[in-house]
Amino acid sequence: MNPSGGLRWHWRAWRSAALWSPTSALIARWLAGVQPSSKKLLLLGPSAGWMLPTEWLLRFDSIVAIDIDPFARWFFGWRHGAALKVAGVRWRYQTGDALAELPRLLTANPQACVLLDNLLGQLRFHTPPWQDPTVFTSLQLGEIKRLLRGREWGSVHDLLSGPAQGLPTEHEFPAARQATAVESAEHLTDVAWLSAAKPNGDWLDHLTDQVFPVGTELQDLAWAFSPHYWHWLQVGWVKPEVGTQVPVSRSDYLNRSFSRRVQSKREPHD
Ligand SMILES: C[S@@+](CC[C@H](N)C(=O)[O-])C[C@H]1O[C@@H](n2cnc3c(N)ncnc32)[C@H](O)[C@@H]1O
Repeated sequence: MNPSGGLRWHWRAWRSAALWSPTSALIARWLAGVQPSSKKLLLLGPSAGWMLPTEWLLRFDSIVAIDIDPFARWFFGWRHGAALKVAGVRWRYQTGDALAELPRLLTANPQACVLLDNLLGQLRFHTPPWQDPTVFTSLQLGEIKRLLRGREWGSVHDLLSGPAQGLPTEHEFPAARQATAVESAEHLTDVAWLSAAKPNGDWLDHLTDQVFPVGTELQDLAWAFSPHYWHWLQVGWVKPEVGTQVPVSRSDYLNRSFSRRVQSKREPHD
């Protein structure tokens, strides 16, 4: 069973369109400001692109997408296919492991930019039973970043997720917070931007605080996955010329103004 995709995901995403729309709008606004120089896109783990704006996809001449979920290709076509066709964007969607395929995909598409679409925050859920999630995720991230060095790439991923009381009806959805990738994740102790949703209890660390090279401009986005379970998403786009330094240290940033403990086992998206 796919712990981060599959029919259950599609059903939930379809049903949650209205609830997720503020976050989809924030992603769309961020992507509108991302102007890749490449006209070719490698799209990793996009599912149906439930939260991806079709308009951004139309800027490319060709798209190669890959997801392990065999249903994703069909739903992606249903959501974006007609517009891509009208705009003359060539696209191919393959079912497979994006990480295992990454070296081959990069070699086959040397000029393509890459978007990891909510994939990296799922890595920990794919940890083999004999391995520690922190070690597994860190090794996978290290390898992905090594492969992407010198490439133009971006990622949308979960940083943390957990229970929240939710927004009072009159309260505006939390705005995107601008940030810059630093070597330690101390800046993440500032949760004021998310406090309107009243996070509480134990939050899950998705082990993705060291994805981007130091100096990368980031945005923190809130996502009401369900009214009382929220995600802290991070988005960023890496230009090859923006430093090649890979952050190495993981600081303990979980000691925050609201209490949460890292949980080693929880089903994603419950
Ligand atoms: C949270 S969903 C992504 C949702 C997507 N951003 C959207 O807007 O619908 C995570 C996706 O990553 C896919 N995935 C997880 N690990 C993968 C891997 N190693 N290779 C390819 N796809 C993967 C899952 O099948 C799932 O579709």
